[in-house]
Amino acid sequence: MLMSRTPEGIPASVLVGVTGASGAIYADRLVKILSKSIERVYVVVTDTGEKVARHELPSGSLLLKAMAGKLDKSEKDIIRVFGIQDLFAPFASGTSTPDAMVVTPCSMGTLARIATGISGNLLERSADVVLKQRRKLLICPRETPLSLIHLRNMTSLVEAGAEMIPLMPGFYQKPSELDDVVDFCVGKILEQLGVAHTLYKPWNSRMR
Ligand SMILES: Cc1cc2nc3c(=O)[nH]c(=O)nc-3n(C[C@H](O)[C@H](O)[C@H](O)COP(=O)(O)O)c2cc1C
Repeated sequence: MLMSRTPEGIPASVLVGVTGASGAIYADRLVKILSKSIERVYVVVTDTGEKVARHELPSGSLLLKAMAGKLDKSEKDIIRVFGIQDLFAPFASGTSTPDAMVVTPCSMGTLARIATGISGNLLERSADVVLKQRRKLLICPRETPLSLIHLRNMTSLVEAGAEMIPLMPGFYQKPSELDDVVDFCVGKILEQLGVAHTLYKPWNSRMR
């Protein structure tokens, strides 16, 4: 049986929700790293999320393979993909809540629907459940510029207990390639989940 957080406080199960915001590469990298770090990674992708991922990701990407049901046996043991309309999925109920959920990249549409409790598909319902069960909900918005509506919805979510992790890479680590930029944001997500990583060095680690 899948245990809840390990004795070290690392989540045993994380649900990754992927929407139609730009930045499928973040979800791809996160799923890859989580699948090597924790017991179970659930994935749910919105319809537009699938289209944008196919547009943005190179063929052979883990997320594309997962969406197409083409994971290897060893990957399938850890990564479970659910259909966006599958409201009979376990985590649509508070009795099977994952330890944490990450919505990355999060569109302003999905963000608005989670903020107002619409729960119209599995991703939105799962976020609703994670919030009501007081588990960790990380929202990684991707939009610019932001309207007052976007900002108000983000405020509502933070007030309800979600954590906002905008996909805003820093440059003080001196990234030299796209992977470094993506790793910066994914590293920030992993830190909030309590999952150790080596995607970048802590700032001024030589002074610790
Ligand atoms: C290529 C592409 C990039 C997009 N990027 C963003 C984005 O960064 N942020 C956003 O909020 N919406 C973005 N959109 C619009 C969303 O996909 C659209 O609002 C959609 O309805 C979101 O649906 P979902 O939340 O169910 O995935 C993009 C659309 C396309 C086609």
